[in-house]
Amino acid sequence: MSHDLWRMGFHLMPPVGWLNDPNGLCQLGGTYHVFHQYSPDWPMPGAARGWGHLWSHDLVHWQGGGSGFAIAPDTPDEASGAYSGCAVPFEGGVRLYYTGNAKEPGDFDYVRAGRRSAQILIEAEADPAAPGGLALGKKDVLLRNADYPAFCSCHVRDPKVWREGGSWWMLLGARDLDDRGLALVLRSGDGVAWEGTGTVRPRETFGFMWECPDRVALAGRTWLSLCPQGMEGRPWSFGQRDVAGYVPLPEGASLARAGELVVDEGRFRLWDHGFDFYAPQTFVDESGRTLLVGWMGLPEAPYGSAPEGLTWCHCLTVPREVTAGADGGLRQWPARELEGLRGARHELAGAAGALELPRHRADVVAEHPHARGELALDGALSIGWGDGAVCLRFADDAVGCGRTERAARCGDVRDLRVLVDSSAVEVYVNEGALVLSTRWFPRSPALSLAASGVDGVTAWEMGDGMSGTYPPAGQDGVM
Ligand code: FRU
Repeated sequence: MSHDLWRMGFHLMPPVGWLNDPNGLCQLGGTYHVFHQYSPDWPMPGAARGWGHLWSHDLVHWQGGGSGFAIAPDTPDEASGAYSGCAVPFEGGVRLYYTGNAKEPGDFDYVRAGRRSAQILIEAEADPAAPGGLALGKKDVLLRNADYPAFCSCHVRDPKVWREGGSWWMLLGARDLDDRGLALVLRSGDGVAWEGTGTVRPRETFGFMWECPDRVALAGRTWLSLCPQGMEGRPWSFGQRDVAGYVPLPEGASLARAGELVVDEGRFRLWDHGFDFYAPQTFVDESGRTLLVGWMGLPEAPYGSAPEGLTWCHCLTVPREVTAGADGGLRQWPARELEGLRGARHELAGAAGALELPRHRADVVAEHPHARGELALDGALSIGWGDGAVCLRFADDAVGCGRTERAARCGDVRDLRVLVDSSAVEVYVNEGALVLSTRWFPRSPALSLAASGVDGVTAWEMGDGMSGTYPPAGQDGVM
């Protein structure tokens, strides 16, 4: 089995090792930066975790992504990992805020004791000689456990920082001493000295911890994005302990405020209904678009993401433009730059038939989906619709690596677009009102597409935007 069969062409992945959350997303002087959680020495037990770094001038062709750290966990405050964080463009450079996680050796529960959580700032300056044109400076610890409210457990992390109304604001994900998830709100005049101003909580307990809080502000409204943990019993969570979604703030409310803000968890919606999605992060690019990148993975997933000894694990979603939908939800759509990777075009006319593409790298659009229909990839992964729902179903367990079936309601299917990139599939329905993302591990080099219940299918072969990140020949392969 060739490693190349599963190597991505336009999804960000590590050359070797483990990747999780996207971090430090920003655009600076035209260049897009995507940092991410990275453990190059995975699957070695206890492999160090820090940040990896890729960059691009067009969101499609990527560079960087080597097997080293952009931020190494090399100070005592981050001895157990340089965890997730964000970027804020500032004075021609960028400020990176992230969490240093440090577990003390000893007999601790690491929830109420034994864990230090520091919020750290790195100022990065534009420097053409540095990787991606960004030279990272020294690390400054801005906040430690003693600085958080007394009701917090040791789990306080994943800063999201933005500027609004002349101040700097920070959201931190937290778990309180009663095992309830919440977000802390902090304010600063200079982005360096911070004071807590309030909290964001649900009406009723909504998970024991909120990871990776984020703020989405569009069309005069604000949404809180969050990753609550402890959701396995909810009817809509597919049994997942951890999910990623968003809630609208009450009309007219802002996160840049003091005091207690209560959000209605009854209005929580998942960002993505597929098998592999977590820890998304958004940013506003230099043209004013809100773009989102998610981790195409899940903590403690019951299915495989590195079959047959693959030396790398996980990837990120494509960058998705986020817009406000008329129904109060958010829409996600692949950044239009992805269309620049489209090559040879294949068409299937008629309500049923099959197409064969040379590789698993395609942008597939179903023309006028009928009330009920199906797109089948390699006869192994079915994307079916009808009765107001869309369903992903694996017919082949080896290809799904333990993934079985995922269905989500969306009303009538008006449009359907599928991005296939070797071992990643993203399905966009009804202009991105519903998205389902999954990894899969196809067995043959060619992609076969079988369709029914459509007026036709248009499929473009997609080019390779990741070749600039490939490891040198011979340093790649299966273990
Ligand atoms: C989410 C998360 C974050 C943390 C990071 C560690 O997947 O657990 O809360 O900062 O991953 O890699």
